[in-house]
Amino acid sequence: MQIYDTGTSSQREPEPGGNEAGHSALVHDHIAAEVRRAGGWISFDRYMDLALYAPGLGYYSAGAHKLGAGGDFATAPEISRLFGACVARQCAEILAAVDEGSILEIGAGSGCLAGDVLQGLERAGCLPRRYSILEVSADLRARQQDHLGRCVPHLASRIAWIDSPPAARFDGVILANEVLDALPVTRFRWSAGALAELGVGLERGRFVPVPRPASPAMAAQCERLRAAAGADWPDGYESEYCPRIAPWTLAVTSALGAGAVLWFDYGLPRAQYYLPERASGTLLCHYRQRVIEDPFLRPGLQDITAWVDFTALAEAGEEAGFGIAGYTNQAYFLAGTRVDAEMRSLAGQDQNRYARLANEARRLMMPGEMGERFKAMAWARDLGPPLAGFGLRDLRHTL
Ligand SMILES: C[S@@+](CC[C@H](N)C(=O)[O-])C[C@H]1O[C@@H](n2cnc3c(N)ncnc32)[C@H](O)[C@@H]1O
Repeated sequence: MQIYDTGTSSQREPEPGGNEAGHSALVHDHIAAEVRRAGGWISFDRYMDLALYAPGLGYYSAGAHKLGAGGDFATAPEISRLFGACVARQCAEILAAVDEGSILEIGAGSGCLAGDVLQGLERAGCLPRRYSILEVSADLRARQQDHLGRCVPHLASRIAWIDSPPAARFDGVILANEVLDALPVTRFRWSAGALAELGVGLERGRFVPVPRPASPAMAAQCERLRAAAGADWPDGYESEYCPRIAPWTLAVTSALGAGAVLWFDYGLPRAQYYLPERASGTLLCHYRQRVIEDPFLRPGLQDITAWVDFTALAEAGEEAGFGIAGYTNQAYFLAGTRVDAEMRSLAGQDQNRYARLANEARRLMMPGEMGERFKAMAWARDLGPPLAGFGLRDLRHTL
């Protein structure tokens, strides 16, 4: 996600209006009731699950505006059509290697990526048999239908929305941009040589972090994370991990036969994620183009995210029976899929358009913007050729 205004939460913080504040109060009360029923403590991943996905209430389940102008954040496909055009090039290569391939996109946001990928594939003469979208948010699904109805109306018969991962096997591509970062995470604190799970309690009606001794299983998991970083954590070190990454990714990818899964998100290999200097973890929230550090503010109104441990994602892929066909950063992925050629093709003879695209490409590719923080990973099954997006710089050795 990109935030236009990089101010911190202490400056002129945007405040919700009456309806929004009322909605957030309902979400707060819903979660607080669960904390009380549970005896005063719930895990952080349960809190995050409720704040994001509680039916009719959570950030993704209710009507928050979320993406784009007037929303909470902007993603790569929202920033530039170049992202979708390059993803389309990668999809074309995969679809050419399988018979009658289809695409499944998970979490399609405003529908921008789907529109750009379909248009790119149409230009390349290799449309997928079907483009399915698995989306949990009813209002985003409506936005996707509206956007695709306007930008590719003639392709409507190929596009379908599904409520759960497909059961029937298909060949082709699965795509997910910035979906993994919303999977609920478990938080922990390392203090005085002991590990605590940081859950959520209530103090004078407000949510607060509350430690309790970690289970042996959690202690063993955190020891693996610490060992990967190869250094001791300082007293008070806090971080998080995503216990759902393997079961969730297995559930959404198990129907894929021959083809590839393309994951795009911000994150790091485990050895870098858990370095001692990253002492307060990577949990961040987004509200109206602002980065907010406190996950307990405005429940239901702000997105809550954590960076992806790409080593865990690679392990999940192998457990799910895929090979890890590529891992690189967004800048190299876009360069490998010929972002330069896409700029020329999208701009045609229009020099102003070319200059605008060049500016967008910088935002997507510069190390200080999205180029390095964002990574791309490909899982592949029964797929012959290497993937162009991962050919320029192979970072798998860092996992
Ligand atoms: C940050 S937005 C990214 C949207 C889009 N991929 C883009 O790049 O603009 C996250 C998207 O994932 C969806 N989402 C979140 N959790 C999901 C889940 N567990 N299963 C399917 N979709 C999910 C959200 O509703 C939203 O469409």
